[in-house]
Amino acid sequence: MRKTRPIVVVTRRTLPGGGLERLAEQVELVRCETDVAPRVDQLVPLLARAAGLLSLTTDRVDAALLDAAPHLRVVSNAGVGTDNLDLAELTARGIPAGNTPGVLVETTADLAFALILAASRRLVEADRYVREGRWTGVPFDLLLGQDVHRATLGIVGYGAIGRAVARRALGFDMTVIHHSRTRRDDELSRWVPLDELLRTADIVSVHTPLTPETRGLIGARELALMKPTAVLVNTSRGPVVDQAALTAALAERRIFAAGLDVTAVEPISSDDPLLRLPNCIVLPHIGSASLATRSRMVELAVDNILAGLAGTRLPHCANPEVYTATGGTPST
Ligand code: DGY
Repeated sequence: MRKTRPIVVVTRRTLPGGGLERLAEQVELVRCETDVAPRVDQLVPLLARAAGLLSLTTDRVDAALLDAAPHLRVVSNAGVGTDNLDLAELTARGIPAGNTPGVLVETTADLAFALILAASRRLVEADRYVREGRWTGVPFDLLLGQDVHRATLGIVGYGAIGRAVARRALGFDMTVIHHSRTRRDDELSRWVPLDELLRTADIVSVHTPLTPETRGLIGARELALMKPTAVLVNTSRGPVVDQAALTAALAERRIFAAGLDVTAVEPISSDDPLLRLPNCIVLPHIGSASLATRSRMVELAVDNILAGLAGTRLPHCANPEVYTATGGTPST
């Protein structure tokens, strides 16, 4: 008789690359029939018999959802951020949670650098100018921006992505300073207190995870410390920056521009005042969105699911304490 396969729920109809097909060879794969985050009432009925959940960083996995999934043995996020997962709750229930660090570092750093250039040199405004038929002559002061080369770049949160941005900055002859929990200089950059970074940097790029400590890290006080010519880039999580304070600072030209891949609420409302500001670029959270990288993220997420179902340690576990908290035996 054919052995019953474990049920794995994936929160989307399809994901890039071949990862889901590989998973489907080994499990009973149940796909949510949606291309965006499913509503809780769509997801809950699928979870009753699920042994695995493959989620994205836009899916909230909390106690209420876990209550609907009494047989869950592993949760695997296709993403490095885990602020959508209640890790304490997962650990308490003996469920390991996977994420996908490493593979998206360079792609996300590319996007951060694209935003640094685009916001500093007003590329989106310039493109609109041309498309709107306003390019009828070339005034010498047309769309004047800020130089990126030889500017001082301040990196807030100096993990793998922050360092990858620092490496790119060297090619632009930039001076790089950073602020992070660990006070350590390296060959790319010098550690400075946050206030000094904000006062000194021409460009501030944010790369911290979202935690209770980093929520609202860049607020009205911090924005007031920045130069009027400064550019703020955020490719981490929206709530790290106080969006109302940023909107006011940009509207009043207290800083020069911002480039955001993330916003306080995602998707941002189409009538959000931020979207009316010419000196703000807003992207729909595409930091890791190259085909190759998103495909690798899915592959890693599948590796984590399969390890969890096999009862072995996840290759990338976001709550490793689950193994000690449960005496090495996560939930079966
Ligand atoms: C992540 O992996 O955390 C990114 O923000 C993309 O989803």
